[in-house]
Parts: sequence; C-alpha cells; structure tokens
Amino acid sequence: MTNSAKPIKKDSSAHVTHGNTLDPNQSGLRQGLPIYGDKDFSLFLRKAFIKGAGYTDSALERPVIGIANTGSSYNPCHGNMPQLLEAVKRGIMLAGGLPMEFPTISLHESFATPTSMYLRNLMSMDTEEMLRAQPMDAVVLIGGCDKTVPAQLMGAASAGLPAIQLITGSMLTGSHRSERVGACTDCRRYWAKYRAGEIDEEQKNEVNNQLVASVGTCSVMGTASTMACIAEALGMTVPGGASPPAVTADRIRVAEETGRRAVQMAHDRLTIDQILTADAFENAMRVLLAIGGSTNGIVHLAAIAGRVGLEIDLNALDQMGNETPVLLDLKPSGQHYMEHFHDAGGMATLLRELKPLLKLNAMTVTGKTLGEEIDAAGPGFAQDVVRPFSKPIYPRGSIAILYGNLAPGGAVIKQSAADERLMEHIGRAVVFENTEDLVNRIDSEDLDVTADDILVLKQIGPKGAPGMPEAGYMPIPKKLARAGVKDMVRISDGRMSGTAFGTIVLHITPESAIGGPLAYVEEGDQIQLSVKNRQISLLISDDELAKRMQARPISPPTAERGYHKLFLDTVTQADQGVDFDFLRAVNMTGKTPRSK
Ligand code: FES
Repeated sequence: MTNSAKPIKKDSSAHVTHGNTLDPNQSGLRQGLPIYGDKDFSLFLRKAFIKGAGYTDSALERPVIGIANTGSSYNPCHGNMPQLLEAVKRGIMLAGGLPMEFPTISLHESFATPTSMYLRNLMSMDTEEMLRAQPMDAVVLIGGCDKTVPAQLMGAASAGLPAIQLITGSMLTGSHRSERVGACTDCRRYWAKYRAGEIDEEQKNEVNNQLVASVGTCSVMGTASTMACIAEALGMTVPGGASPPAVTADRIRVAEETGRRAVQMAHDRLTIDQILTADAFENAMRVLLAIGGSTNGIVHLAAIAGRVGLEIDLNALDQMGNETPVLLDLKPSGQHYMEHFHDAGGMATLLRELKPLLKLNAMTVTGKTLGEEIDAAGPGFAQDVVRPFSKPIYPRGSIAILYGNLAPGGAVIKQSAADERLMEHIGRAVVFENTEDLVNRIDSEDLDVTADDILVLKQIGPKGAPGMPEAGYMPIPKKLARAGVKDMVRISDGRMSGTAFGTIVLHITPESAIGGPLAYVEEGDQIQLSVKNRQISLLISDDELAKRMQARPISPPTAERGYHKLFLDTVTQADQGVDFDFLRAVNMTGKTPRSK
C-alpha cells in the first residue's frame, strides 16, 4: 500500500461537505505533478491545459474525484454508463467535489479472446497506474461485467486511495413463449436442449432474442452478481449497491449517492486499506457461500486479498461452509433472478439473516461499520427470495474445497449446483488433452463414453490455455445428451461460468501445463470424487504416478514477447488468485478467514 492508514474522522457519516478540508498542497490538482524539475511550473502548465476545457479556478480548487469509466461498445453489460456517469458527477458536485472522468480498459465475457481472465490483470494494472498517475483525492470505480469489478478492486487496493465501487447493475429478464429467461443459466439450458435435439433452429434463434432483455450484467448469480454482492459485503459499495438492475431509478440513485460518498471519503482520507481488512474478506466469503456464488469469486477474492497482503485459507473457507447454508434462492442454485433479489430488499435482507456470522466491526465506505449499516437498514419485510436459516435452499455452503493426489494445492466444486447422486462417485477417465481435442472428439459417435465415466480436460489452467478459461463446463457428449443424460462428473484445471451448473470439479492446482498430476491422467484410469470426504483422487499408486512423471517431464509454456510473455512468466496458480506474482503485496501479513 502506498498510502498509510489515517484515522477516520468522527463525523464521517455526514453526507454533504462544506468547504475543502484537504491540505491544499497535497490534494486536488496539486498532487502527482509531472516531473519537469520545477513544481510550480508543472502546476502552472497543468492548470493552463485543464483551463483549455473551460474550468474556472474556483472549480479547480475542489477535491478531485476520479471516475473510472469502463463504457465500451464492446461491453453491453456496461451499457448504462452514460446515465451512471451523469449521476455520479451530480453526486460529486452536490457534495462539493470536482468530478474527473477517465477511461480504462473494459472487458466483456463474450468479446475477449482467448478469455477475459487473460486480461483481468492487465485491466487491474491499467486501473492502478491511472489512479497513481492522475491527480485525484478519491476514485469512483464503475464496473459490472465479470472481470471488471475484481480488476478495479485489485488495482485500487494496490494504489491505496480512498476508493468506492459502483456496480453497473444486472440486466432485466426476458420472456420466451411465456417462460422467464435470463443470461446466462438459461443460455446454457437452451443450448443443451438444442444439442439434445429438444428444440429446433427456429426456437433457438427465437430464445436468442430474449435471453438478454436489456443492458446490464447477467441476471442470475453468475460471477458478475457474485462480485457485486462481494463488493457490498467487503464494504466497498454504498449500502444497497449490489442489487438494483442497470436500467432502474434505484441504480441511478445509487450512482448519485456513490458520488457524494466519494467526496466525503476524500475529506476523511478513508483509504481502501481501512476497508479491505481480514474481517472484510471473511464477510465476503460468508456471503459468497450463502448466495450460492460463483466459484470464480474465490479466485478473485484471493487476488484482491493478495494485493493487501492476505492469503485466502481454503481449508478455513471450506469449514465456514459447514455453518453457512445457501440462503439466496437465485439461479443457478435456485429459481429467481437478480431483479427479484432487489425486490426482496437486496443485500440488507441477506446480511440481516447472516448477521450472527458476520464480523460486524468491519469498516465500510460510509465510514460506518457493516453492523451499523445492517441496523440502519431496518427490520425487513416478508419475502421469499432470501430464506431464513431454518429453511435454506441448500443446507451447507455452496462451494466445497477438495484435495487429493490429483489436486495437492486444492480444487473446488460448486456442490449446490451439482447432482447429489454424483457427489460420491468412482468412474473411468475419458481424457481430453486440451480444448481442441475436446472440440474434435466430444460429439463423435465413436467416442468411448458412458454416463458413469468422468470427463477430464487438461491444459485450461492459468498458463495452459492461457488465462484459465471457463471451459470447465464441458458439454455432455451429444450421443449421451440425446439419450437424456443431463450431468456427468467433469474435472479440469480451468474455471466455469458462475451461471453454469453440474457436478464439475474446477481449479485443480497445480495445473497440468506446469506438470501438475492432472497432466498424467490416462484414458481408462479410475478417478474418485468424494465431496463428503473433500477428496479428488486418481486411483493409481504413488509409484505409478511418479513413474509417469519421470517418463514425461513437462516444461511450462513460454512466449517470446509482449503481454503474453509477461502473463506466462509471472501468473500464479488459482490458490493465489491467478494474479501476477509481482502485483501481489510485497509483504504477506496473514491469512483470512481467521475465525476457524
Ligand atoms: Fe457481462 Fe455476464 S457477460 S456479466
């Protein structure tokens, strides 16, 4: 962290700021001057240029609030950016600040090859360095689509400024032949129906028009919604900032309030390190488990925590799952969509239910603790989207951590979206060496596969693909799909979309591309999955595994130049968040969660 923690002023909950309380010599446009060897000249020059845009001296004396604009024609999940920017600026100016909008990289899941995850760290570096390079007393980060919020939180955590997250908000659901549909659980469901021959080309095209009914992020508990809830649980959004859909007045009001808060945070020097504490991460993990959140949430949390010197303790996270049932009834674990979560009171309803398990003293962007904000939200009302503890939609946390000779560094399974019947299973490995091999053979009539086999996919880890794509959700082979098979055990070192479902083991660490045991699984080997025992094992002897490793040593992939080289040379494994090793905090100071 570059900025040392400073105490929060007692009146930090005040909403409107009168006058500039910041040190005039170390704030606003006077900070971070370019080096010409003459500071006064640097400021003189800066002011001359900004006045070219018509600013007055009086405007330029205000606290400067940066706004990271991630609007892009390639990113419909951020399609409400113009309205959000207007509202954030309004909030900033109402509170006496000067809004300064600037662009950063924007990433959309469907418009980034080989995968958006490959570019998340680049976006985080862009965000961090723009926060450092440009003068600002606080920053509003506007993100929504899967990788954008993690990238912004990672970058801001390293830059160390007062920072507040604004979520773009979820899309509305659509209607296909009277059935409510939304991206992307229903995208997968309808695609599976098409593959199985249950719907024809015409119906496939028809539903394609309805799956994304407005701008905004995916409408189920995928990675975007997961990260929105996590951002609020971390204390990084205004209360209620996670759930309003993108096109609603509530979302615009959240944007205005976010702008106001940013100004107060600048005055209070409420820096991000005061919010992103071990307790905050524990709260975020608790929420991740209780919402049936995306497995990607673990990877992103590990990366954000790594920026502030904290390791995620996967064993402790797994134990938290024993006492944290899934309470949120959203797809893919349940039945509702994000707009229903918002109608049910959003995160306040969930946090109120989880309150006995939360670290209530964790600080938030409002200058109040999470506990104070839960109390301020009031008593709640009758609804059926967030269940009480006595009636969960799944009795344990959504995610379990697995270990074994196939995953010495751990693996994950989203047990709440898996088939109970397959969670204790021994099967024969049907092995695909990489995604190309999968594409070429998965639908072949000659493929030797039954519903009891275990599909194994290699080379989709952080270095393998590269970028750990969401290819872990392997399709059911067509001939089995046509016969009615809906789920099989599938294992890989990759990720899967938070909108997906099935008995799917992911994030196997270390990955196959660097010689992890997964690389040595052979066709016909027996593999055992036991979620009850938290085990994923290749049923061969240690000697046999060692013999295979010796016979076929693996060199990690390399690249000659550019970002590809930087990525392959420095990317870490899933347990460290797939961040670049040089971006993690210099001093790792502890683990989170700490309670178990
Ligand atoms: Fe952007 Fe799903 S593609 S949130």
